[in-house]
Amino acid sequence: MSGIFTYHNFSLQDTPYLEGQVAVVTGGQAGIGKEITAQLLLHGIEKVIVVARDENKFKTAYDEWRVRKGIELTQDDSRVTFVKCDLGDIEDVYAAAKKIKEQTEYIHILICNAGLGIQPITPLNNHGIDPIFTTNCIGHQILTTLLLPLLKKTTSTTPHGTRIVISSSSLHQLCLTLSLPALTHPTKKWPAIHDSVWRYARSKLANILFAKELTRRLQEDDDPGAKKVYVNSFSPGNVVTQQWQGWSEHLGRVVGVVIRGLGRWLGQSVEEGAATAVYLATSPEVSERGIRGGYFVPIAKGEEPTRLARDGDLAREVWDWIDDRVAQMLGENWQSGK
Ligand SMILES: NC(=O)c1ccc[n+]([C@@H]2O[C@H](COP(=O)([O-])OP(=O)(O)OC[C@H]3O[C@@H](n4cnc5c(N)ncnc54)[C@H](OP(=O)(O)O)[C@@H]3O)[C@@H](O)[C@H]2O)c1
Repeated sequence: MSGIFTYHNFSLQDTPYLEGQVAVVTGGQAGIGKEITAQLLLHGIEKVIVVARDENKFKTAYDEWRVRKGIELTQDDSRVTFVKCDLGDIEDVYAAAKKIKEQTEYIHILICNAGLGIQPITPLNNHGIDPIFTTNCIGHQILTTLLLPLLKKTTSTTPHGTRIVISSSSLHQLCLTLSLPALTHPTKKWPAIHDSVWRYARSKLANILFAKELTRRLQEDDDPGAKKVYVNSFSPGNVVTQQWQGWSEHLGRVVGVVIRGLGRWLGQSVEEGAATAVYLATSPEVSERGIRGGYFVPIAKGEEPTRLARDGDLAREVWDWIDDRVAQMLGENWQSGK
């Protein structure tokens, strides 16, 4: 399974200088996202807008970025700001997109990194949908759709296009079927760890399909900026973060400690986990080689995902299913953001 071996096709030191650029990073204040934000700041970005639920985690991360050599943030520096948002709450995501648009007229980089992992969680949320799928997929589709006009507009200000990067996982390989009606029914796989891993894998499969379908739509879009928005997905590898506590919650503390120990030994560092996202978000190579709709493993290595993850018809079906669900809640023209 991908993630054990680390390729070295990109080094964070080769990140270009990002002066004048604006990024939005979901979950940019914890785990891999915190390192992605740090790298963008280290490379001179003008502004990063972090989107997540927990402002205290943001404050803790902010204090870490402030003392990190090379970042040079002042107290309450507007170079990095926080927009509180639960990506699992459809109306909240809509409101967050509005707040982001109040903060900036340009977006060069959108990194859809936030995600729920394999922790025990209710089968359905108050929307009647799997909460893992809602957070990891629906929330990001709404946010991306509402911010897309800014990403298209911003292409006129930059020679290397604008970028959308979607965090997936090699665990997408475990999902061998994606039935849309099942998203609104408990999956009831046994034991509970099997159910959680499978639901997570399903959401990560849908993340790859999302990058694929968005790429197709942009290629057919008449807006002159659309073809200069590069969308790709990636797996960060195996990086021991808060998400890995889910193993203890399911299997007990001792087993969790062993699994996290193996992850630290065999997996990637947080910098290695962040590097592919930084590559896809910033490297001129992406636009020069026309890299779009691809799936990458650490670091910056293109790889074929599973057959299901390459299924264009399924990608369209999942997109339309989400679009319909959101329209039922927010109204038919929700995509206009008005
Ligand atoms: N770590 C790995 O080995 C690994 C492997 C493959 C893929 N990934 C993927 O990489 C991404 C980052 O994972 P990580 O390991 O860094 O996890 P993490 O340390 O648990 O961080 C998850 C981030 O997502 C945010 N988040 C979670 N639920 C949210 C919600 N409902 N609304 C808004 N933000 C939410 C969290 O912030 P709040 O709690 O404040 O909301 C946090 O910033 C995820 O998409 C994950 O699936 C990770």
